[in-house]
Amino acid sequence: MNFLITGSSGYIGSVTALTLMEAGHNVVGLDSGERGNFKHHSLKTIKKDLRTSVRKISPSVEGTESIIHFAAYAYVDESTKKPFTYLDNNIRALLNVLEMSSRWKSRLKSIVLSSTCSIYGDNKNQVLSESEPPSPKNPYADSKYYCEKILREYCEETGVRGVALRYFNVGGAKLTGSIAGEEHTPETHVIPLLINSAIKNCPFIINGTDYDTPDGTCIRDYIHVCDLAEAHKVAAEYASNKEEGYFKVFNVGSGAGHSVLQVKEMVESVIGKGIPVEIGPKRTGDPAKLIADIDLIKETMGWRPFKSGLRNIINDAFSYQLNHRKAHF
Ligand SMILES: NC(=O)c1ccc[n+]([C@@H]2O[C@H](COP(=O)([O-])OP(=O)(O)OC[C@H]3O[C@@H](n4cnc5c(N)ncnc54)[C@H](O)[C@@H]3O)[C@@H](O)[C@H]2O)c1
Repeated sequence: MNFLITGSSGYIGSVTALTLMEAGHNVVGLDSGERGNFKHHSLKTIKKDLRTSVRKISPSVEGTESIIHFAAYAYVDESTKKPFTYLDNNIRALLNVLEMSSRWKSRLKSIVLSSTCSIYGDNKNQVLSESEPPSPKNPYADSKYYCEKILREYCEETGVRGVALRYFNVGGAKLTGSIAGEEHTPETHVIPLLINSAIKNCPFIINGTDYDTPDGTCIRDYIHVCDLAEAHKVAAEYASNKEEGYFKVFNVGSGAGHSVLQVKEMVESVIGKGIPVEIGPKRTGDPAKLIADIDLIKETMGWRPFKSGLRNIINDAFSYQLNHRKAHF
């Protein structure tokens, strides 16, 4: 298939673009270059901020059969300080992609949207299925919730098929074939921060130790970025063959939960080094436990996580961080 991948210079976009190319698909990337720094000689990338008019680039991507839309601002904490910026960027970028794709919608088969488990908010049910009522608690989650609604309406009205994938915590790196991995600046994710603390022997801050969990630290579901890239490939192929106007939301996680302390212990075991910790305040809106119910995507699309064991995710993240990471912190 011919794919357009927005946000292709970022973490998940780059791994997905390479995965699709290695599976024999034609891929064109698009990114403003503001937050991602991935470049690969074989990936044609259009440099474009999707908040601005997309008219000029439209002709060069008109053969696109499937769009995977990753381009967004994605830091929860930053979104609480710059709510308008988040809503503006994330919603406007999607609207412009949809406006552009309307020009060739008869050929466009599917759109896959990056969404997030933070849409569930502080939910009482701690293993979350897609039927859980959304309760976004920060502007980032709000923006993704609106994007899901916009894509749903777009599909219904135009007949294009759509899927929103709600990812849980993404980790690891693509280390076979062409290499890509996590390069966020600032880095806010637990696994790279723990690895950084181990490498530099500087304290890792645990945000809250009195959550209602067995060891008092937050529990999260970790998914290997290569399993997630595969989920996009499967979702695009699946949606492309559905009836016109199809739209559905799917969780993508491993289905297992690990506390921050368990992740720290696993990083120590993988690296063979202790990590100094400091206890910091809880972050606003951080739920105690978020674990994905992944039955729907397994049963509907036959996708399964093969690489998402915690040790494997950390092994790959460590190897990437040590040998390949460009933006150190
Ligand atoms: N990383 C995670 O754990 C996680 C979890 C849930 C959902 N997500 C979602 O997955 C997607 C990708 O996340 P990531 O971790 O790869 O982030 P990232 O910051 O590494 O990549 C996002 C890319 O989008 C680009 N971008 C942002 N706004 C743009 C615009 N207006 N026009 C063009 N390009 C723009 C950035 O330059 C960047 O390269 C995001 O939509 C994010 O919300 C990520």
